[in-house]
Amino acid sequence: MIPSFFRIRCLEETDSTNRIAMNAARAGEPEGLVIQALRQTAGKGRRGRVWDSPEGNLYLSVLLRPRCPLPKACFYSFAAALAVYEALAHLRGEEALQFKWPNDVLIDGKKISGILLEAAPVDEAGLVDWLVMGVGINVVSHPDNPTYPATSLAWEGALVPLEDVRQAFLRSLHHWCLTLHHDGFNPVRRAWLADARRGAVLVKLPDGDIEGDFGGLDETGSLILRLADGGEKVIQAGDVFFL
Ligand code: BTN
Repeated sequence: MIPSFFRIRCLEETDSTNRIAMNAARAGEPEGLVIQALRQTAGKGRRGRVWDSPEGNLYLSVLLRPRCPLPKACFYSFAAALAVYEALAHLRGEEALQFKWPNDVLIDGKKISGILLEAAPVDEAGLVDWLVMGVGINVVSHPDNPTYPATSLAWEGALVPLEDVRQAFLRSLHHWCLTLHHDGFNPVRRAWLADARRGAVLVKLPDGDIEGDFGGLDETGSLILRLADGGEKVIQAGDVFFL
């Protein structure tokens, strides 16, 4: 069963479910709305990239109104990553599943899902009025891009109906959103770290690339990078590539 908190609107085609959910948020829609599309014509990825959205994969955006300060909004993308992980673990088993900062879920090092969180500007009280959590899970197909190796449930041998993926994801998301609400980021951070991919990484930043070892996640959700000179660098935003 999908938790009754969620109200699902399923569209055959749209440009981007995030855009539809953001418009609904601005129009005053209560939280819990889920916009799903069978295909997207202009799916949005992180950092201005395009998210290929052919029919058969899961594309949905969840509207939340957690009334939190902006720096805490990113905690919800870790909750989403945990929910994707648990859904995949439930549907195909946990083997070779890992997180990659900030919120990718990998199978055998290949990306199977993407999360794009978009938030309203903060209000006079310094709080975010709404958050839209956009999630794509490769169910039957994945893009072929050597820079960002990807995979899908079908490619990994799990032929699972789209509705089952949606249900498993939303059930787990509900759990992790409640955990965040009641217990804060610590349990979310702990669960994420338990299955985070570790090792040497290259991080692409706007002012150049930097190499180091994955050193964990700090209490704000930033990446800790251990540098060769023994120092540490805390990274708030960037693209991570394992070496
Ligand atoms: C990433 O670049 O990893 C994030 C991809 C997020 C894609 C999802 S698909 C559903 C929702 N609608 C969008 O336009 N993007 C997100």
